[in-house]
Formats: sequence, structure tokens, C-alpha cells
Amino acid sequence: ALIKSRALIKGSIQSIPDYPKPGILFRDVTSLLENPAAFKATMQVLIEQYKGKGITKVIGTEARGFLFGAPLALELGVGFVPVRKPGKLPREVIGESYELEYGQDTLEIHVDAIEAGDKVLLVDDLLATGGTIEATTTLVRRLGGVVEDAAFVINLPELGGETRLKKIGLNVFSICDFD
Ligand code: PRP
Ligand code: ADE
Repeated sequence: ALIKSRALIKGSIQSIPDYPKPGILFRDVTSLLENPAAFKATMQVLIEQYKGKGITKVIGTEARGFLFGAPLALELGVGFVPVRKPGKLPREVIGESYELEYGQDTLEIHVDAIEAGDKVLLVDDLLATGGTIEATTTLVRRLGGVVEDAAFVINLPELGGETRLKKIGLNVFSICDFD
């Protein structure tokens, strides 16, 4: 059943050549979200992977991490915490800068969203270089949260994110790889 649903999920993800720039083959998770059987199968795989593991918070990273992280938190019966681009969160925040292919960006989290000792699961739609999830791990650890797991719908292994995240002590789970 797991193999069948992984094939359904992978088959629902459209690949768009030369987006957003020439030479990039863009893996588009919006086509998965439009397919209710694929979306449900995705959530079932994630729930099966993480139920009963003692997770106390789920974090989703802006923007596409929200789409999978929030329903997973609901199913696990724990709180959902958004990590956002600068200036979007209204309470006290801490921020962490990270390198992009060209330049830098910053992510922020509410300081009161994580309690010391929270066992935090990080969720995003796609793992590329791992910069987004490394910065998010740093934010949560600065607040005393325990981060050991990161989950993705899509992994692009050639971009090295999985290797990078393993080096900072994360177990990386992904539903489908695209080479
Ligand atoms: C994309 C994707 C991941 C991140 C992966 O988000 O949704 O969050 O890039 O790349 P990385 O592993 O190299 O960090 P993007 O920054 O485009 O933001 P968006 O979801 O708000 O469009
Ligand atoms: N982020 C980085 N590379 C990507 C790709 N090929 N498809 C979708 N998102 C990406």
C-alpha cells in the first residue's frame, strides 16, 4: 500500500522546464494539492511516519511548508508553529539569516511558540540545498527545542540537502526523490 501511494503521489507532481529560470526543472507541488487522492495519500504517509513518536510541536516553513505542516499537526494532536519571512509575525521574534543561491534571506519564529524540551518536527514541501531547514533548526534549538526530525514531500538529492541536514543531527524523511 505504501509503494502504491508513493507512486500516486510522485505521479501527481508536475515538472516544469525552465522555471523560474532557464535550466531549472521545477517540481510543482501545487498539482499534488489539486489532486485530492494524492493529497490524502501524502498526509496518510506523514501521519503513519510520525504518530506515536512523541512529537509535541510541528513547524512549517513559509509558505509551502504550511500546507503540509498544519494538517499534520492537527492529525497528531499538537500545536502548529509557522516559521516566516521577516516582518510577518506580530509577537516577539528571533531571526536567523541563511544563504540563498544568490544573496541572503532571514527566517523568524515567535519566541514563545517553543517551550524548552519540546520535541519538534520540521515540515516543508521540498528539500533542495537544506538552507531553509538548517536555519529553522538553529532557531528552534536557540529556544531550547529538541529537533531530530525533518519531513519533506519532495527531496532533490543532487542538491545535497539531505547530507547537510544529517550533519546537524537530523533524521531526514521524504516521500519522493527526483534526480
Ligand atoms: C522553497 C521550498 C523550500 C525551500 C527549499 O521555498 O518550498 O522551503 O525553497 O530550498 P532549500 O532546501 O535550498 O532551502 P521558497 O524559499 O521558494 O519559499 P516559498 O515557499 O515561500 O515560495
Ligand atoms: N527549489 C529548488 N530547486 C527546485 C526545483 N527544481 N523545483 C521546485 N523547487 C525548487
